Amino acid sequence: MSDDHTNQSKTIEPGRFTLTDNKTGKSCELSVIHGTVGPSALDIRKLYSETGMFAYDPGFMSTASCDSQITFIDGEKGILLYRGYPIEELASKSDFMEVCYLLLHGDLPTPEEKAEFEHTITHHTMLHDQLIDFLRGFMRSAHPMAIMVGVVGALSAFYHDSTDISDPRQRMVASHRMIAKMPTIGAYAYKYALGQPFVYPNNELSYSENLLRMMFSVPAEEYQVNPVLAKAMDRILILHADHEQNASTSTVRLAGSSGANPFACVSSGITSLWGPFHGGANEAVIKMLEAIGDKKHIQEFIDRAKNPQDPFRLMGFGHRVYKNYDPRAKILRETCHEVIHELGINNDPLLDIALELEQIALKDDYFIEKKLYPNVDFYSGIILRTIGFPTNMFTVIFALGRTVGWLAHWKEMIGGDDHRIARPRQLYTGDRQRQYIAADSRSRHSISWGGFWGKIRE
Ligand code: SDX
Repeated sequence: MSDDHTNQSKTIEPGRFTLTDNKTGKSCELSVIHGTVGPSALDIRKLYSETGMFAYDPGFMSTASCDSQITFIDGEKGILLYRGYPIEELASKSDFMEVCYLLLHGDLPTPEEKAEFEHTITHHTMLHDQLIDFLRGFMRSAHPMAIMVGVVGALSAFYHDSTDISDPRQRMVASHRMIAKMPTIGAYAYKYALGQPFVYPNNELSYSENLLRMMFSVPAEEYQVNPVLAKAMDRILILHADHEQNASTSTVRLAGSSGANPFACVSSGITSLWGPFHGGANEAVIKMLEAIGDKKHIQEFIDRAKNPQDPFRLMGFGHRVYKNYDPRAKILRETCHEVIHELGINNDPLLDIALELEQIALKDDYFIEKKLYPNVDFYSGIILRTIGFPTNMFTVIFALGRTVGWLAHWKEMIGGDDHRIARPRQLYTGDRQRQYIAADSRSRHSISWGGFWGKIRE
């Protein structure tokens, strides 16, 4: 029985396609699988057995790796739905705890269900004391994402009683523990770098209020959470909570397909998210804006981004799926102005550069033609920096939001009907079989010629 509510709506259209090999005349029939909304999928599961060939799709540009009921994205229309609910509605009317429940269970909670869920999360926020000793083993200069990868992976050593993936109750307990503990781990990583004492979670505060207090308060003085900043934090977490089969979520699914424990799977997701092309982009955006330094240099960077000889890319722009505006970027742009207004910041040079860069890029033919719009990472870094997070904590915040999405997908896969290990194949382009050469008769020449003759012998 799956953990999630099942509104399975998958229909199969047998034999919709006939694939014919024009060289041999052999053909095979392929079915089409229709989901609820969005592109249908060509069922190629029997392709290899019937043709002896693989489908070839590096980067999975045209590949559905699974079916899922969690999140839907329409890249052309800029639509993002969590369990069918538009991200704009959730960002304005819901809160992160409610969105966590929705992603994990498939439906919005009743007031009682939400209260119980929030109580559970609140009472799992503390860390085992020896885990804190483990964290203290890192250098103070360690990147906080390195600490997140290590400490989250180590949770399986401390919470072994929720690693039996065949037990739905343990799957849910492990999920609750990670959602609850991520802010504590992230805040402790930050405090550890500063050499400041850890601030324990306060069960009287909301999830986002707790995060801000653990990050920015010190025992020496009272700390009042700014409600506008807490709301902005909550919205950032909602917007980062899930995004269907992105690189880090696919990593969690792949790791989980082998039966690995959930803590190890989420740690693998954090690792993938760290990359600058993925969740690390928010940190890269700020570094880029700082490198631009002044509006008068913007065009120079845009020209670099357009130059095919220059590997530089405009960080925070472009997306594999969104070929229109990322709906999350629009919401974050508004949140950016709210936070800056609340903190009475009259002019933020980096924000000024970002707004100018966005306007120039959106009018530039290259960006229009390649459909490159600002994505979720373009504004999130500016907001987090304004709230007071250091740049190297931005991807940590992304990971805090995305943890529930990783877990929802992991649970959906493990609790699903056809859970099997993911094991892609490849197109082999290496050496054909060749003879071993004893070390005393090896020279670079003989080894290379041996490879060459190996190719020729075919
Ligand atoms: C996230 O998948 C997700 O859902 C991710 C995410 C999530 O919530 O999980 O949405 C979060 O990762 C957002 C993306 C954050 N990354 C960045 O902002 C880094 C900058 N963006 C690019 O690296 C790029 O746009 C990607 C990685 C986001 C998407 O890459 P794709 O889909 O592989 O697109 P591509 O690299 O094939 O680019 C298509 C063309 C290329 O030109 P040609 O080779 O066709 O001539 O567009 C160009 C690229 O050179 N291009 C850019 C560009 N992004 C793409 N040119 C300049 N600047 C850019 N940012």
